[in-house]
Amino acid sequence: MSGKRILVGIAGASGAIYAQRLLEFLATSTEVEEILVTISDAGRRVLAEELGVASEQQDLSDFASWLDLSPEAASRLRLLDVHDVGAGPASGTFPLDAVAIVPCSMRTLAAVAHGLADNLIARAADVAIKEGRRLVFCPRETPLSAIHLENMTRLARLGARIVAPSPAFYHHPKSVEDLVRFVVQKIVEQMGIGFPGGVRWQ
Ligand SMILES: Cc1cc2nc3c(=O)[nH]c(=O)nc-3n(C[C@H](O)[C@H](O)[C@H](O)COP(=O)(O)O)c2cc1C
Repeated sequence: MSGKRILVGIAGASGAIYAQRLLEFLATSTEVEEILVTISDAGRRVLAEELGVASEQQDLSDFASWLDLSPEAASRLRLLDVHDVGAGPASGTFPLDAVAIVPCSMRTLAAVAHGLADNLIARAADVAIKEGRRLVFCPRETPLSAIHLENMTRLARLGARIVAPSPAFYHHPKSVEDLVRFVVQKIVEQMGIGFPGGVRWQ
């Protein structure tokens, strides 16, 4: 495989648009060859609530139906069952360049911080930690309790990158899309992937 292979886990936190725009970016990145996607049950619920993407009526593996992508770009995405803890990314022998959990719920954050590899998202993150691979969290909750903060600290100490969905305003954003794009840029760059045309402070 010449390009990168990455896994994006979508957990049940608010901010499904971050996952949507992230997948659209990655599927068109020249650095990325394959994107594995796995969505928790609560993540599916949030996709339905926030984006109107209802998995009961819609096959989420048909990525072109819910992402703004050509069929060719969409073919670089592959959906994995979050309950299949025997899927490739559950093993350290499966080559992956980065894992990102976007958005990340406090439940998934806690599961990973405490080694509870109870679904494919938590297991893939657990594997990324033990294999020393890039692992990015985009945790969404407010206010944050000491439990949430301690879990984030624990993960940061283990080398994970915590990219809070907290956009800057020095680039004078004009729309929600501008705010989302800024956060997606930060996630992508922490995954070790270039983000051409991103915000750069001069
Ligand atoms: C519409 C909606 C929005 C939610 N937003 C958040 C959130 O922002 N952060 C969070 O930690 N949990 C949020 N939750 C609760 C989680 O989905 C819930 O704790 C769930 O058990 C998480 O499961 P998961 O980690 O397997 O995705 C939300 C739930 C719903 C239905």
